[in-house]
Amino acid sequence: MLTKLKLHVAEKIKGELGLTVDEVVPLMETPKQLDHGHLAMPVFFLAKTLKKAPPLIAKELSEKIKGLQLPGLLSVTPVNGYINFQFSDKHLQDLLLEAVRTEGDRLGHSSLGAGKTVVIDFSSPNVAKPMHIGHLRATVIGQAICNLARSQGYNVIGINHLGDWGVQFGKLAYAYQKWGSEYPFATEPFESLYKLYVRFHDEAELDPEIEKEGSLMFKRLEDGDEGIADLWRMFVDVSMQDYNRLWAMLGVKHELVRGESFYNDRLKAVEDRLQKLGLLEESEGAVVVKLDDADMPPCLIRKSDGASLYATRDLASAIYRKEELGADLNLYVVGAEQTLHFKQVFKVLEKMGYEWAKDCHHVSFGMYRFKDVGKMSSRKGNVIFLEDVLRRAIDMVKEVIESKNPDLDDKDEVAKKVGVGAIVFNDLINDRVKNVDFDWDRVLDFEGDSGPYVQYVCVRCESILRKYGKAVPPSMPVDLDSSEERELVKILLSYPEILNVAFKGFKPNVLAHYLLDVCRAFNHFYHKCRVLGVEPEVEAARIALVSATLAVLKNGLKLLNIETPKAM
Ligand code: ARG
Repeated sequence: MLTKLKLHVAEKIKGELGLTVDEVVPLMETPKQLDHGHLAMPVFFLAKTLKKAPPLIAKELSEKIKGLQLPGLLSVTPVNGYINFQFSDKHLQDLLLEAVRTEGDRLGHSSLGAGKTVVIDFSSPNVAKPMHIGHLRATVIGQAICNLARSQGYNVIGINHLGDWGVQFGKLAYAYQKWGSEYPFATEPFESLYKLYVRFHDEAELDPEIEKEGSLMFKRLEDGDEGIADLWRMFVDVSMQDYNRLWAMLGVKHELVRGESFYNDRLKAVEDRLQKLGLLEESEGAVVVKLDDADMPPCLIRKSDGASLYATRDLASAIYRKEELGADLNLYVVGAEQTLHFKQVFKVLEKMGYEWAKDCHHVSFGMYRFKDVGKMSSRKGNVIFLEDVLRRAIDMVKEVIESKNPDLDDKDEVAKKVGVGAIVFNDLINDRVKNVDFDWDRVLDFEGDSGPYVQYVCVRCESILRKYGKAVPPSMPVDLDSSEERELVKILLSYPEILNVAFKGFKPNVLAHYLLDVCRAFNHFYHKCRVLGVEPEVEAARIALVSATLAVLKNGLKLLNIETPKAM
């Protein structure tokens, strides 16, 4: 698409600029306004060597470039320090159709990341606790970034850094042995486990001795007690079954599960290395790495009772990801409340002499704020469960379908796709670092900036194509020259750039906003230009545009991990 156009132009003008194609392409810009041309080449960088003012350089170069044969080129115009290129509508429209026809599922994707591996730690829940609304963000943002990374050609390893180790497992084992028989583990294992967890904390408030018993149990687990290890395995299995069910609902998949326990026998090596480098210090009985020079509190490596810590495991896991998985980029999609933790871990890695510490990034995100918590169907304590939010969305969509389109086929399937899609889109549309006001009216507003709105435009495109009933033309039979058509073409052509920008900033919201822009441009076009029943050539050309719109929207939604129903 536009990338292709840039390549063509770069190939032709590289000689005039004294640069290589690879140097020219990233310099080229795509002007926001259509009348500034389709591509713009800034020439400021030449001012020093040529000892001339940029506007003059742009003027002289434009004259030379005009003489070059560039297919589809209409005009070359110097504007201040830029050279603007304008192409014929037909040329651009054919470029778009060709991409849609030949690139298929990889429409707009690139191979910039080819040969490189990115490891993405996302949606890593804590065993025995149901995923809550905070995990929704970690899950959908993480999966979208995995998809975007794949769209850029990276080898992607999504990791579940399952919270499956720590003193809470001693507490759970204690609770299970003491009260386990009171709960229906055979029929409702995960609910029972969670209830036991809550029960332990309630009982411990009345009798602090119980805390100690829990810690003792954990010590036995760490020391290799087989009986307790069996219980621990059962807790993990039961929890994973529940998480897997939710991930399936969201279409989420990890390549690897590497829980915290995976690093148990790698922690000693980390400590030894820290010791050897003289980085360890004693502090109130605990072992720490001091980070005063970086203006941070010390990073705790080992507690006074000998138990290892979250941070130590994260040091071991980062080393594992680099040395054994070959991570060129190591991402942690985790809430902003863990910012200090990751800063400390990355700093310690740097102190350990790992130059790749700079390739570790905390992809942080803000919290949800609920305007109307009372609307939630089931809310236990202060926790809002992820599943309840999804179920409520699906139920609400079902109600809408029942009242507006009761004869729809596969109502349940559609309600699931639209309900889940609405929740996912509502999350991803936000700049991830900000807190999000969760507002049900907005989530499900079929006409607003919502997932259902984008899905609805897809459904409309599908229906137009169905009614047309003939094959989509491979190239434009005529030029489409209204401003609405040209604007839509231009937006569609910028899709590959959007994917690139969205991945580079780890910002799925760039793609989500873009899809809304496409929908708006499509609606302008659709209201202004009649598609079916006009002169056959114009009809075919507009059908081609509808099909290109659908291809981009579907591809984009898929990268955001949102399904598109055929009808709704
Ligand atoms: N289990 C943690 C939580 O739910 C998230 C783990 C994030 N990943 C990591 N490598 N620390 O808060």
